[in-house]
Amino acid sequence: MPCAPFHLAWFVSRGYGPKAWRYDWGGDPSRWMMPDLFVDLARSMERAGFDYVMMEDSCNVPYTYQGSHDAYLKYAMAAPKLDPAVLVPYMAMATRRIGLVTTLSTTEYPPFLLARLMNSLDHVTEGRVGWNMVTGSNDGGAQNYGMDRQIEHDERYDRADEFAEIVTRLWESWEADAMVLDREAPLFADGAKVHPIDYQGRYHSCRGPLSAPRSPQVRPVLCQAGGSARGRRFAARWSDTIITAVRDVGAMKATRERIRQDAVALGRDPDGIKVLFLVDPLVDHSLAAAEDRRRILEADVALHADQHLASLSRLSGIDFARFPLDEPLPKLTSNGHQSVVDHFTGRTPRELAMRAELGIRFTGTVEQVAGMMEEAMQEAGGDGFLIVHADFTRRYVAEICDGLVPALQRRGLTRRAYEHRTFRENLLAY
Ligand SMILES: Cc1cc2nc3c(=O)[nH]c(=O)nc-3n(C[C@H](O)[C@H](O)[C@H](O)COP(=O)(O)O)c2cc1C
Repeated sequence: MPCAPFHLAWFVSRGYGPKAWRYDWGGDPSRWMMPDLFVDLARSMERAGFDYVMMEDSCNVPYTYQGSHDAYLKYAMAAPKLDPAVLVPYMAMATRRIGLVTTLSTTEYPPFLLARLMNSLDHVTEGRVGWNMVTGSNDGGAQNYGMDRQIEHDERYDRADEFAEIVTRLWESWEADAMVLDREAPLFADGAKVHPIDYQGRYHSCRGPLSAPRSPQVRPVLCQAGGSARGRRFAARWSDTIITAVRDVGAMKATRERIRQDAVALGRDPDGIKVLFLVDPLVDHSLAAAEDRRRILEADVALHADQHLASLSRLSGIDFARFPLDEPLPKLTSNGHQSVVDHFTGRTPRELAMRAELGIRFTGTVEQVAGMMEEAMQEAGGDGFLIVHADFTRRYVAEICDGLVPALQRRGLTRRAYEHRTFRENLLAY
């Protein structure tokens, strides 16, 4: 049986921050804060029929590694970053169909403010925005918002459940026909069709209604990546798309099946959640040329292991400078990304550094990599891939959007044209 068509997205790891600033093809690194690269990315992705671009975010200059922010600033690792919500209108102005997902944390925003921002973005993009629902992870981030430390892991998700309940109710607080626009009456909006939500929860409360009408998608596309047991339950309840980092093709199928079972257990249609797997493709004119580039990248990681250990320290709250580089780690627990730390036991810090960059690696010509993606997706059973390549350049974007994706299209694996107008409709089209 041929492989069914699948979805494509792009994960902009390290968010709205400097990209490839140490590399050729990286452009002028002093202008990393301008939206141009991201606008060009969105345009190229739309030409290639991608479903969405997802902008990662975090909100602090970390200091977990060696108790100092120096390593983070030395490598521009997790800082600096601008607010990715600012990019959405820029990318929207340059495109017509692609979905634009921004990350906003439930421990940093009050629910009303977030509901209002997403509703505004959904209006101005005419139904193309999505929210990556994150709960925050490190203490330094929490300290920027007046807390001493991050809220306990599972409780963050309990609060996030309430949070999501409030924002979704706010998005629906104006009925679909509440805006009447009768000039003679006059009646701009019908008060009987606009409803306070009067939510009183354990962690949050909100009167409502939202201060603007329903947006084209009503509920922007909800995206989630929780990997722990509690995180998965949250994701299965709310998400339209789940993004997941698995180590190899073998784990794809099991992960997707588990998510689909979680969805069914909560009374949801499993086809209403699109599971996208992180993949890091590297293509060139020959297998040897692509492998050579991969080797150069890996050599750089080996040379700068501290950069990647600093990143893992930020995610987990564990200072990896405390452990000898080549000795197996003891069992660790984390109040940060629990599911990430579960894989660390018994590995050495150096091994972790070498694998710190996310995504299954596929390396070869465009035809070879398209074949690997086809085989992997056939095995997993759906629903798509999320490209990640932390230090991407315009050259890399062209290689993927104008090289690899056309090869996927020739095989009938990804769309050539958008089926619908809004992000959610396109995501759920197949
Ligand atoms: C692809 C991917 C993207 C993520 N993006 C963000 C992000 O932008 N900001 C953030 O704070 N956490 C982000 N996370 C972390 C997740 O929201 C979640 O905390 C993590 O996967 C661990 O889940 P757990 O806490 O349930 O173990 C991301 C995770 C993955 C796999």
